[in-house]
Amino acid sequence: MSEWFIYRGTGGPDPDKIDDLPDPPPWRHFDVPAVPYEVPPLDSSSSRRLGARRVPLPVQDDDTLELINAALYLRRPLLVTGPPGAGKSTLAHSIAYELALGRVLEWPIVSRSELKDGLYTYDAIGRLQDAQLDRAHVPGETDGDTSAHGTRSSDIGRYLKLGPLGTALIAAERPRVLLIDELDKSDIDLPNDLLNVLEEGRFGIPELERIADRPGFETVEILTDDGRRVPVTNGQVRCRAFPFVVMTSNREREFPAPLLRRCIPLDLEAPRDQRLAALVQAHFGAGSYEDNHDIVDQFTEAETDGALRPTDQLLNAIFLAQHAARDASRDPAAQRADIAQLLMQPLDRGPR
Ligand SMILES: Nc1ncnc2c1ncn2[C@@H]1O[C@H](COP(=O)(O)OP(=O)(O)OP(=O)(O)O)[C@@H](O)[C@H]1O
Ligand SMILES: [Mg+2]
Repeated sequence: MSEWFIYRGTGGPDPDKIDDLPDPPPWRHFDVPAVPYEVPPLDSSSSRRLGARRVPLPVQDDDTLELINAALYLRRPLLVTGPPGAGKSTLAHSIAYELALGRVLEWPIVSRSELKDGLYTYDAIGRLQDAQLDRAHVPGETDGDTSAHGTRSSDIGRYLKLGPLGTALIAAERPRVLLIDELDKSDIDLPNDLLNVLEEGRFGIPELERIADRPGFETVEILTDDGRRVPVTNGQVRCRAFPFVVMTSNREREFPAPLLRRCIPLDLEAPRDQRLAALVQAHFGAGSYEDNHDIVDQFTEAETDGALRPTDQLLNAIFLAQHAARDASRDPAAQRADIAQLLMQPLDRGPR
């Protein structure tokens, strides 16, 4: 394995390794003071994907590792393509786990997604309702402009919430991991809209910029995607350590050249052999790959027909076979084979 790798894909945690990451190239240097922000730990979505019984086994090959580390060094987004079930989305969780970068910020893209959804939301209606309650409030019961349910409509920060992309751009000491999942499902404008924010590592919140010169509004605390409060000064959110951005695509459509130019492209192949063994053991424990060799063989042999079979099918088949084989009335081996056959159907050949 190359010495320069920061992310080594070993499947085991290496929390101090990120400190070995050299400074960014000058054109990706963001000279911004850090804001106090405690990054929350990985949440259950990571353990669901990575498996609860991770064993330190290589989960990526060297070519893949080179591209992932290139993106880390260059502070560029990684654009991951590959067949369904190849492990594109899980890659973001694997990096956050191994380098201890905290909870993965996830932005699942749908056709209606807009740049602003990823950056922040402003609950103008909630603020208006609170302002009306404030006005209706009988003086003497509570102080000042606190409404019946205890919020202050003048505290604009309560009505602003950073989205996953916005939270990834907070000036924290360590980079966050941001998963922009299935970008190819987006409306045609989103990839272009993303360009500027990813290039500049900053964005403005007009609702705060407008009032920044009023006394008491220069720095406002707003909510993050992690549910924590963070100070925003002059309505500007600016990054310090550029986040590790993983954008995934099933290649449902091509992206514009200016976006491609700014990304590191990675074509992830479906896991086989050693990688497949690592995944099976991550979910079912050490030794489970050998114990379930009959089903693994069935999965890999079925592939010779060139059809599309995602890893999830193998995991489902192993899980179910463990239960089905307890039926004493039938030969366990035949029963396991039947279950596997039933679940491991090619995706691109339609229902049986
Ligand atoms: N490093 C890993 N460790 C443990 N399990 C993994 C790993 N990578 C992938 N998997 C498992 O493989 C399966 C497929 O992974 P994932 O959902 O990331 O694929 P995908 O390429 O994003 O698929 P799709 O295009 O359908 O979204 C999941 O069940 C996941 O738990
Ligand atoms: Mg995915």
